[in-house]
Amino acid sequence: MKILVTGKGGREHALITALSESPGKPQIFAYPGSDAIAELATRVEVPSLVALIEWMKQEGIDLCVAGEEALLVKDEGLANLCEQAGIPCWGPRRESAQLEASKAFAKAFLKKHRIPTADYTVCQTAEEARAALNRFPIVLKFDGLAAGKGVAVCPTRAEAESFITEVMEQRVFGPGNLVVESCLTGPELSVFASICDDQYHILMPARDYKRIRDRDEGPNTGGMGAVASREIVSPEVLARIEREIVIPTVQGLIQDGLRYRGFLYFGLMLTPDGPKVIEYNCRFGDPEAEAVMPLVRGDFVGYVAAAASGKLQPERIDFADGWSICVISASAGYPASSRSGDVISGLEQVEGARVYHCGTRKNPDNLFETNGGRVLAVVATAMTRVEAREKAYAESAKIHFDGLQRRTDIGQMHFD
Ligand code: AMP
Ligand code: GLY
Repeated sequence: MKILVTGKGGREHALITALSESPGKPQIFAYPGSDAIAELATRVEVPSLVALIEWMKQEGIDLCVAGEEALLVKDEGLANLCEQAGIPCWGPRRESAQLEASKAFAKAFLKKHRIPTADYTVCQTAEEARAALNRFPIVLKFDGLAAGKGVAVCPTRAEAESFITEVMEQRVFGPGNLVVESCLTGPELSVFASICDDQYHILMPARDYKRIRDRDEGPNTGGMGAVASREIVSPEVLARIEREIVIPTVQGLIQDGLRYRGFLYFGLMLTPDGPKVIEYNCRFGDPEAEAVMPLVRGDFVGYVAAAASGKLQPERIDFADGWSICVISASAGYPASSRSGDVISGLEQVEGARVYHCGTRKNPDNLFETNGGRVLAVVATAMTRVEAREKAYAESAKIHFDGLQRRTDIGQMHFD
């Protein structure tokens, strides 16, 4: 089987590793991939999405797996174009991927299908947004893709007003509306499901750590670490999430004619009033994929290929018991900026843990160096959380580069 995976980060490195370890030994290609991914997959160099589809047809690709979200909503959409070309695609059509690409679309979907979420108003102008600031803290969300920077949780009016000025007057993310919504409290949870038309399969839950510094201080990032385990959430709460959130979402997609085949990521807040949806993402999480993928057992390739062709077969895979903990090492300046070109040492000393490359490249001496904000994910699994945490940190500590930033409380905060 020939599989093409789109993306280039740690999530794709983890997905490609899991696919390559699956029985059947598929031949894997990555677009665009990375130097680290190139050790498992052949990188494809083409100038455009249309050229990629043409290349897939010529190469006889049997399955396309969408790692990142961007191509899902580019041009006519990755999945739509694959469908026209007769290539099964694991990742939703353009119109369904609006659940991630547009916050206003997602909120309208949630409201229409009575799925628990925060109250909200969609504002078209700065004045409307200012008028909607009725209590604090308050949450402001730019209605479009903004590389993880489009959401502000504002404790005060002054902070909210300055975000409104940047987004609605200075237009730092380009044109678009602003969603103003009430602030929810409680621990967050990432629930992943495979959706195949009217069928669904809930996968291993995870939790990510979005702030740059320990104790959830400092600005939001793409994620500084993640924990995956069945034990993160009780069977009762998971059953409630399935009943009140997952099932109505699947039914809503069908009712609205939004065909969906792919991973769907429910970003949830476990509030005192029950679980509520913060956001949908039309892909696996990053860094949650790095934590979850090492726990996958069984025929992962067969599972994804069958699901992309319309047959969801949960019995093909399983998830190991215990805990998986992922610790990210980020580069100097992240998240405001990032520094590339710092040489990484110690990679070859890591033992008994997995290393996924989020943002690295090989320099002319064939050594890996930093190439982005999040650089590496080190992931350890064990039967207990404490063991997994100790192992992940002991192995992460072997890795060095100038300016390295790493939280010390992944897998500890929100549990102790
Ligand atoms: P989003 O991109 O919508 O997931 O938002 C990014 C982060 O902002 C979330 O992971 C939460 O930490 C926070 N956030 C988003 N919406 C809310 C909300 N209504 N209440 C509190 N925090 C929120
Ligand atoms: N872990 C956050 C995300 O993937 O969007």
